[in-house]
Amino acid sequence: MGFISRFFAGSGPRAASNRTSSQSQSQSVANLQMKVERLETANQKYRERLAERIELNNKLKGIVDTQKSEINAMRINSRKDLTLERIDTFFTGTKLRLPEEAYQRFIAKCEDNATPDKVENFRAEMEKSQHRAFYEQLFSVEMDMAQGFDFTGLRPIVTFQRGETDIAYAASKGMSLDELKANHIQITIERFDQIIKKNFINPKRVNAVCEIGAAWGAATRYMLNRYKPQDYHVYEIDTGWAQWLKDNLGVDSKQCDGESLSETEDESMDICVASSCLYFMPFVKQWNYLTEFARVLKPGGVAVFNVNLIENTSVRTLKGLLANYFPRRSFGYIPQHCVDTAFPEEQFEKLVKDPSKGFGYQVYRKR
Ligand SMILES: C[S@@+](CC[C@H](N)C(=O)[O-])C[C@H]1O[C@@H](n2cnc3c(N)ncnc32)[C@H](O)[C@@H]1O
Repeated sequence: MGFISRFFAGSGPRAASNRTSSQSQSQSVANLQMKVERLETANQKYRERLAERIELNNKLKGIVDTQKSEINAMRINSRKDLTLERIDTFFTGTKLRLPEEAYQRFIAKCEDNATPDKVENFRAEMEKSQHRAFYEQLFSVEMDMAQGFDFTGLRPIVTFQRGETDIAYAASKGMSLDELKANHIQITIERFDQIIKKNFINPKRVNAVCEIGAAWGAATRYMLNRYKPQDYHVYEIDTGWAQWLKDNLGVDSKQCDGESLSETEDESMDICVASSCLYFMPFVKQWNYLTEFARVLKPGGVAVFNVNLIENTSVRTLKGLLANYFPRRSFGYIPQHCVDTAFPEEQFEKLVKDPSKGFGYQVYRKR
């Protein structure tokens, strides 16, 4: 018997004296008891339904959590897809090429070690995929350096091979590339005016310029305007930009292997330029490009480039790199020693004495 029914079953003040009233009271008590029982049953059912709902809710929460992690996984995968999609542009427009000598040495090692049929199969397999696996590894640092994070949209951004995206973006906004990149173009004009002194090279002798990593062509425009060269070789791994530079600035976009000036003759260039691009690649490639500059420059020609020097990395800089470049951990630093070996003193004159005062730009003239 529940608490309420016990309360009503107790004797009231008039229970003993009035029989009729006692009967009707018993009736009311019985009715109330029934109501109470019905309520208790309903309450029990309600509790059971509530327990079912809670269980269902927990199940749904589990499903939502799983879906959330699936969406996150898809986001990460789509980042990968985006990168791979951009790698496809290696094979369109101004195509890239493999570093010839290193590739041939690699194949020779395969031939020395594996049976001829195995090597043949391997070569056929690589050719079928246009050596994609090699390209992915060759440009892994450049790809890594171009990963960022959009803290508003909370998603990764991939700027590797972004030429086509930037060109399409400018078109969608009805802007020219000059307008879109006005800031970079202006900064380059101001810096180069300050760095490249008139006495570094006589403008009249400048017939040929070679540039790497020209992208949207801020430095290219500067060189074209100031020196009006007849030949302009560009080596750019972003095939979208390479094609755009060819179509819009009239330069000769060369097939690029990301580390050499394979289509440029020895001692054929008056100026070699690398503006804000060397530090996007591993140091050996930076070093090779610099030695290539040394090779292709005519006597009296100048190399203009900026690099991040290891010698300039104070503890503060190192801490800053660790703190600010999460999760990216590749940094395109190079030792001054590499620059010195590319431009040995007996063959090159160092024209900028303290590069740290010239936005990191160094200039060497071939003797
Ligand atoms: C910041 S942009 C250069 C900006 C441009 N030079 C200017 O005047 O404003 C860097 C460029 O270097 C290119 N790059 C990165 N690694 C390269 C490599 N190994 N060989 C050639 N170009 C490379 C990138 O594709 C990108 O277009």
